[in-house]
Amino acid sequence: MAITIGIIGGTGVYDPAMLENPREESVETPYGSVTVSIGTYRGKELAFLPRHGRQHSIPPHLVNYRANIRALKKLGVKTVLATAAVGSLNPSMKPGELVFVDQFLDFTRSRVQTFYEGGPEGVVHVDMTEPYCPQVREVLFRAGRTLRLPVHNGGTYVCTEGPRFETPAEINMLRQLGGDLVGMTGVPEVVLAREAEMCYATIAVVTNFAAGISPSRLSHDEVVAMMAENAANLRSLILQAVAWLDEERSCACHWAVTGPVAPGR
Ligand code: HPA
Repeated sequence: MAITIGIIGGTGVYDPAMLENPREESVETPYGSVTVSIGTYRGKELAFLPRHGRQHSIPPHLVNYRANIRALKKLGVKTVLATAAVGSLNPSMKPGELVFVDQFLDFTRSRVQTFYEGGPEGVVHVDMTEPYCPQVREVLFRAGRTLRLPVHNGGTYVCTEGPRFETPAEINMLRQLGGDLVGMTGVPEVVLAREAEMCYATIAVVTNFAAGISPSRLSHDEVVAMMAENAANLRSLILQAVAWLDEERSCACHWAVTGPVAPGR
């Protein structure tokens, strides 16, 4: 059976419990080896990968994004569902709500963002008009509405370098630039998935209002506690979406680098 759906678990999502009969597999890539849990759900084979490691031991700026995406690609994954804990800059996106992100602003500083570094690989300038697969996003939104979860279809995710939280002045600036949500891991993951020609969607879980908007100081414990509160919702959302996802899609994700195949070619 082909593994076509990959789930990248962010903060608070370390457990492959959503899979039936999970087994661990080590996948070798040019960027290092990656341990992936593989299991089934409703007859579909899924791969699960905790972005920060099982014990949250890898900080956002040191995640091996290239190895993770390449490992999923090597397994045959065509669709990636990524979870992300985020702070909110938008009063209408409240803690406990879920947002299916449709755009991003990149404020990372130290991360390699490409598989194409010249040489035999060549140079690629991948299109980012629709960084997140609109069709997978629609399935997620439909699943969220069906389950009566508090969901938003679309939102601009700002990726900061971390691992520190932002200052209120930064949040004020990011809000004026059009950001709705802030997190530390969305980029370059989404970029690399696009270079790998996979459909990629982010399920952002709002865990807090961002610094200066929140009445209290931020802490990682607060983020983890909020993720734990939302774990059951997240799990049912993912499983409903997995049940509905089919492989035939007319989006541009699967030819983002190679270009569309001309009719008759
Ligand atoms: N900022 C950055 N990353 C985050 C936040 C935040 O407020 N909350 C959860 N992840």
